[in-house]
Amino acid sequence: MKLLVKPESLSSRYVPPRLPHRDEQVDRLYSLVRSSLEGAAQVVQLIGPVGTGKTSSDALVMRRLVEEAQVTHLYVNLKLLSEPSPWLVFSHLASQLGARISRSISAGEAFLKLTKLIERESPRRVVITVDEADELVGTRSLKGGRVVYSLTRLQELGVRNVAAVIFIARREEWSIGLSAEERSTLGRLVVRYPPYTYEQIVDIVLYRVADAFRSGAFLEEAAELIARVTLDLFEGDIRAALDLALYAGLIAENEGADRVSQKHVEKAVAQLSGRNLVSEELVDTLSRKERLVLAAAILSALQLGQLYVPLSLLKESVDALARHANEKITEEERDAALQKLHDAGLLKVSGPLRVYVAAAGFTEPGEYARRVLEKLGYAAPL
Ligand SMILES: Nc1ncnc2c1ncn2[C@@H]1O[C@H](COP(=O)(O)OP(=O)(O)OP(=O)(O)O)[C@@H](O)[C@H]1O
Ligand SMILES: [Mg+2]
Repeated sequence: MKLLVKPESLSSRYVPPRLPHRDEQVDRLYSLVRSSLEGAAQVVQLIGPVGTGKTSSDALVMRRLVEEAQVTHLYVNLKLLSEPSPWLVFSHLASQLGARISRSISAGEAFLKLTKLIERESPRRVVITVDEADELVGTRSLKGGRVVYSLTRLQELGVRNVAAVIFIARREEWSIGLSAEERSTLGRLVVRYPPYTYEQIVDIVLYRVADAFRSGAFLEEAAELIARVTLDLFEGDIRAALDLALYAGLIAENEGADRVSQKHVEKAVAQLSGRNLVSEELVDTLSRKERLVLAAAILSALQLGQLYVPLSLLKESVDALARHANEKITEEERDAALQKLHDAGLLKVSGPLRVYVAAAGFTEPGEYARRVLEKLGYAAPL
């Protein structure tokens, strides 16, 4: 049965007409840029972690301003350039104003050419967005700070129709890598994008699937599981949530289901995260000590009621379980077992301190874990 009526609307390039839970940021950006159309040029930074709607809200606000005011919007995503050099940035922006800049001219000359092209747009006002600005201070960048310095001083240089320059970055500290003079031109206008909460992700997923799926075809329980997994496994990146929704939809369609449920999301997670379920065959390939470590991880996840377990706690519970079962495991053996389980996709060591217990299952971790523990030869002492 056809469930997905508009799958393309789940693509991360698609900008929805509304961004739930981002009203504050969208309104603030809109009014900052709007006021700059009448007055002095503004430099604005949009800062927040991965997949929190920064690029989309910039696109949404600029779409609105291009429609209602005489605005030309120039946009460059530094990650998509072969290198974030001043020359490439300036020529990329110039190309959006219809010019091709010859390779033989310097970055300084390319910038001058860009200023002329911007002035030629007058009386239209120009807004420039530099996305993935962290790249300017990263290892790929030579003289990235030049880009900040040049673009933020356009008005000082006599280019009167520049309204705003917007820098989008993940880390608040990105600009620390700039020189003092470059940083000072950035100013202090920052719009912050805090990570989404569980409830907000559920809302956002439901909003986006309402557009993409036949009405009623996507169960709320599926959106809830997606939100949990997005936070646990994908740092809250909404892009991952949308991918999961799309995958789950395709899986449900393939199975001939009439609705997308948690079950389909679980399968989508398994595919997207490379997670394996603990099958009999897999358990057979594990050594005694690997089973012990896996069992301890599952027990800790059960105790904590979450899929992430701090490594320190995991180590304690490995020791406790070993004592309980009258077995011995050295630190080296434990670490080797962790590595093996990680490679098998049963645990995922995320960052230096936490272990994600992939084997614990999503929908009913308790039930599932008990079964796995039995299979491993460690009955749950719960
Ligand atoms: N509040 C929201 N409502 C609906 N969709 C959202 C919302 N926030 C983000 N999205 C969607 O999530 C995806 C990622 O958003 P976006 O690209 O704007 O994030 P970002 O903050 O720029 O991430 P990155 O730092 O990785 O560039 C997009 O498809 C976007 O449409
Ligand atoms: Mg972005």
